[in-house]
Amino acid sequence: MKIFLDTANLDEIRKGADWGIVDGVTTNPSLIAKEGRPIEEQVRMICDIVDGDISAEVVATEASEMIREGQKLAKIHKNIVVKLPLIRDGIKACAALSKEGIRTNVTLCFSANQALLAAKAGAYIISPFVGRLDDISHDGMELIHNICTIYENYGFKTQVLAASLRHPLHVQDSALAGAHIGTMPFKVLDMLFNHPLTDRGLDQFLKDHAKAFQETGAKR
Ligand code: G3P
Repeated sequence: MKIFLDTANLDEIRKGADWGIVDGVTTNPSLIAKEGRPIEEQVRMICDIVDGDISAEVVATEASEMIREGQKLAKIHKNIVVKLPLIRDGIKACAALSKEGIRTNVTLCFSANQALLAAKAGAYIISPFVGRLDDISHDGMELIHNICTIYENYGFKTQVLAASLRHPLHVQDSALAGAHIGTMPFKVLDMLFNHPLTDRGLDQFLKDHAKAFQETGAKR
């Protein structure tokens, strides 16, 4: 499963990229707004840090405006993927942009039928929101399973990007379900490293090593 960071914060993206495990970045208007720079400027800077798919979302809600905005965003950098909300006009814009060879990420997906529509429109990525479904007592992970099954049944090329992942178990379950991509906040990515037995084991290794070589005075 590819790992994407779900943030527009450059420090977080630099830290993640430095580990060598970040395959791409997803942003949305809320995440861009937090950073205080125009979207064009912010995503260009993100493209300079990570060489992978970088999603930039349109804010128009009418198809022809979405298409214009998408074309403009796609010109910023070759790695830009145009993010479109899963509304009727968004699907129409997705079909048009896909025909032009512009890659799209259809977002705010909360049902398997919506994901089917996005795939039919030629979406490059579909973004089902796991955490937000869990928030309203629906099983977010079941949606990832269902979309993966439907896409496999019909050979759709659209990649399933598990979004709104809030904790490490969401990441593990998305990978088990067969999601192609998982996008997560930096905090969640950082948590994936943690295991108390790793810390305890390393501590013991280093203590044993230090003790042996201090006692014998042997060279390492
Ligand atoms: O980028 C969209 C999605 O990942 C948002 O997550 O935690 O705000 O539901 P969340």
